[in-house]
This record gives sequence, structure tokens and C-alpha cells, in this order.
Amino acid sequence: MADNVVRVCAQSDIAPESVKAYEVGDRRLAVYNIDGQFYVTDDECTHASASLADGMLEDGVIECCLHFGAFDVKTGAVKAPPCSIALRTYKVLLQGGDIFVDLDKDAAGEAA
Ligand code: FES
Repeated sequence: MADNVVRVCAQSDIAPESVKAYEVGDRRLAVYNIDGQFYVTDDECTHASASLADGMLEDGVIECCLHFGAFDVKTGAVKAPPCSIALRTYKVLLQGGDIFVDLDKDAAGEAA
């Protein structure tokens, strides 16, 4: 595995169609299970200081609980105002029933 790959949690920790937040080093990450696929983003909303894991996950979109801005979980793209800055995504790797992320890459595998 690459240098900056870290374990986040077990796949079984994230129930289908749910999201949970985890501290990983100095970051707080949100881990999503959407249709049996796992996705990871920053947990903090880019609009202000709210935890996206406290928001509502529906159809691959996470809605922030504070001002109801929203993001596409798979791409980090803004889906609803007042958010205007895309959400950081992470490349996910699955191994031995666990979820790892590459902190240096986004969900598309590009340097981030
Ligand atoms: S803090 Fe998330 S929409 Fe305002």
C-alpha cells in the first residue's frame, strides 16, 4: 500500500445507506455505505463547522443538518446552497474486511 494509506474502520461498522464519522490522525472523515459501496469524504461541511455524519444521506447525496447545503458523496460536488466549495473526497481501498483511505488521493485517484 502507498505511504499515506490509513485504516479508518471495518466495513461492517457502516450499515447500508448510512454515514459515520471517524478521527484519523488530525482529520475527521465521514464514511458512507451507498448500495454496498464505500465512500469517504471530509466530515466537516465546507460552509461552516458542521459534521456531515449528522446530516441526511439520500440517493448518494449528503445534506448538512445545519443550513441544509448538500454534496454528491461520490464526487464531492456541491448539490445545494449555501455550500459553494466542493467537499474533499478520498480514494478508498478495501482489504481484509476493513476500509482504508489514501490521504494523498481523491476518490477519482487524482493527487489531492
Ligand atoms: S454548515 Fe453545512 S450548510 Fe452550513
